[in-house]
Amino acid sequence: MTNAKRIVLSSDHGAVALRQSVAAHIGAKGWDVVDIGPVTTESTPYPKHGREAAEMVASGECAMGIILCGTGQGIMMSANKVPGIRCGACGDTFSARMIRAHNDANMLALGARVIGEALALDIVDAFLSTEFEGGRHAPRVAMIEGGDAQTHG
Ligand code: RB5
Repeated sequence: MTNAKRIVLSSDHGAVALRQSVAAHIGAKGWDVVDIGPVTTESTPYPKHGREAAEMVASGECAMGIILCGTGQGIMMSANKVPGIRCGACGDTFSARMIRAHNDANMLALGARVIGEALALDIVDAFLSTEFEGGRHAPRVAMIEGGDAQTHG
């Protein structure tokens, strides 16, 4: 099996239950889920978990990642410190589609204290079912990665 359908999930203590719901949801849809925890709700720092998941995506071990904390914001910021990671924190399905279609996001962050389970799963579905459009968006994404601004059309 290639890693094209392999996805890493991680969270801090504030999002364990929602992370487990996401894991079950996408596992049932055929994704090869690598859930790196944590298992308990004992306090644990979101930067550690964001970085661990991001490194698995950046290395190519996983094609995608979904990371969760209370707001989705701190763990998103942590993941985006890893070169090659483009992670957006989403509380709506439109943004989840757009970060794939226009920004070629390879990670999604969710806030378990911001949105409920049903919306979170819709956001996950929107994210995972949308392809990068390429075209005019490709040089812009290259600029995120430090590409030459002069190549932008
Ligand atoms: C943990 O209490 C909380 O700060 C964390 O889950 C997250 O919201 C940080 O961005």
